[in-house]
Amino acid sequence: MKQFDFLVLGSGIAGLTFALQVAPRGRVAIVTKKNRAESNTNYAQGGIASVTSQEDSFESHVRDTLVAGAGLCKENVVRTIVEEGPARIQELIELGMKFSEREIPASHGAHELDLGKEGGHSKRRILHAKDVTGREIERALLDAVSRQPNIEIFENHIAIDLITSQKLGYVGENRCLGAYVFDKKNNHVATFSAPVTVLATGGCGKVYLYTTNPDIATGDGVAMAYRAGASIANMEFVQFHPTCLYHPKAKSFLISEAVRGEGGILKSLDGKEFMDGVHPMKSLAPRDIVARAIDSEMKKSGADCVLLDITSKPAKFIIERFPNIYETCLRYGIDITKEAIPVVPAAHYQCGGVVTNVDGETDIAGLFAVGEAACTGLHGANRLASNSLLEALVCAHRAAEKIISNPRQKSDLKIPFWQSGNATNADELVVVSHNWDEIRRLMWDYVGIVRTNKRLQRAQKRIANLQEEIHDYYWNFNVTADLLELRNIATVAELIVRCALLRPESRGLNYNLDFPDLNPEWSQRDSVVRRGN
Ligand code: FAD
Ligand code: SIN
Repeated sequence: MKQFDFLVLGSGIAGLTFALQVAPRGRVAIVTKKNRAESNTNYAQGGIASVTSQEDSFESHVRDTLVAGAGLCKENVVRTIVEEGPARIQELIELGMKFSEREIPASHGAHELDLGKEGGHSKRRILHAKDVTGREIERALLDAVSRQPNIEIFENHIAIDLITSQKLGYVGENRCLGAYVFDKKNNHVATFSAPVTVLATGGCGKVYLYTTNPDIATGDGVAMAYRAGASIANMEFVQFHPTCLYHPKAKSFLISEAVRGEGGILKSLDGKEFMDGVHPMKSLAPRDIVARAIDSEMKKSGADCVLLDITSKPAKFIIERFPNIYETCLRYGIDITKEAIPVVPAAHYQCGGVVTNVDGETDIAGLFAVGEAACTGLHGANRLASNSLLEALVCAHRAAEKIISNPRQKSDLKIPFWQSGNATNADELVVVSHNWDEIRRLMWDYVGIVRTNKRLQRAQKRIANLQEEIHDYYWNFNVTADLLELRNIATVAELIVRCALLRPESRGLNYNLDFPDLNPEWSQRDSVVRRGN
């Protein structure tokens, strides 16, 4: 039994921020699936949206967020996160984060933070580290963690399930007591106990065949919380990023929205600027609109991709502002200073998640959720670009403050060790890899950018069949990382479909041809699901 004061699942921006904040108050375990930097955070390109310029205002950032969110954001949550952003950014800078700066014109060498622009933002307000913002955030936070003797990181450990009083058969409030965790290298299941457990496990892009997300993004936190009885909301709002590199050898490489922010224009293969007439912000319209326009353009023309053209900008500017995108594309034979980039939409961000308040509290005592795993009400039906790193930073900090001001007592409930029973090693691993592929493809084909109820119902049936098979596999064979993740992507797929079927309207990222309009009865109404309802 490994006993800690705080158990943090995940080492992206949310988990690390929380851990650093509570470390002076007790022993912290950070459990993370792969190496410590591997996370969605590590691949973030565009940056963090926050009001830091005199020409900007909280009101404007709040308005842009509400507009993108299509009537479903919780305005009080939006205000809190927007207004607390600058203080959290300042702390990040004090920890060692290096944002890109620019020389102030006619200032004789003085510098200020360089601010980028992205879709849906009416002002320049994106703080960034060139086009590798997430890598720099992870570096700064992990450096700070390494200076904290109270934090222990468990790499290559994958949380299987939360341990709750209800699951163990205790009466009274449902309380989280820790988690069972699979140690991949030593092939055994450890029991972690703590009065406070934090889900900072990120999103679920891997549930779709094409995604910008790395392999860790299998929605484990949402699946674990659902199995533990927590409320999950708004999973139908999966954000498809409009511009993922289209190349047979490139896996999940994003072409940042900042490229469009700096003048990149979307074109069809025959050179038509097809965003003209779709939205007044053209190529920089909110993501749901751009992704749907690309989808429609590809369906109309039968083309496999569209083009993103930034060649109107000087080569020197492109190479300095987007060094990672420039070099990566060059490796695939595309010189973005001279030719347009082939791009397609891909699953990118989970706007829904475990229901929390702005302090990360879930409806299970002792269980918090922060970052992409949580649904706070900030994003509503569509996330505004670069608001997720901001949300993770502010809410992880608030969750830590909440716990510090209201510490939880250690429980004296007895926790059993993990039981493998008569499980043996799996006989046919092809079942696991086949089911992985089947779920990802059916989600892409039936639960993608444009949906219908018939396709959703078809997906629901197939997912239910697959879940039966996965269930048998899970109970009869020893666990492996692939099997655990398969079980989770199946659960998340089920939740996305259930939420989409609940909502009889098209709003933000949920576009259903059977209900093409907004339904006023569903404005300000979340689609909430719980196990058993
Ligand atoms: P993550 O950073 O994804 O971290 C999750 C952690 O949980 C990882 O360490 C993972 O290994 C661990 N984990 C997961 N499951 C388990 C388990 N079962 N057991 C143990 N550990 C587990 N947002 C912006 O605001 N601005 C951007 O510019 C931006 N660019 C992006 C670019 C790309 C390519 C992608 C994929 C996303 C981008 N986003 C951006 C979104 C943003 O990066 C994420 O929403 C954010 O980083 C999520 O942070 P997080 O800490 O919640 O989760
Ligand atoms: C990007 O750089 O385009 C990603 C920004 C985001 O997802 O917020």
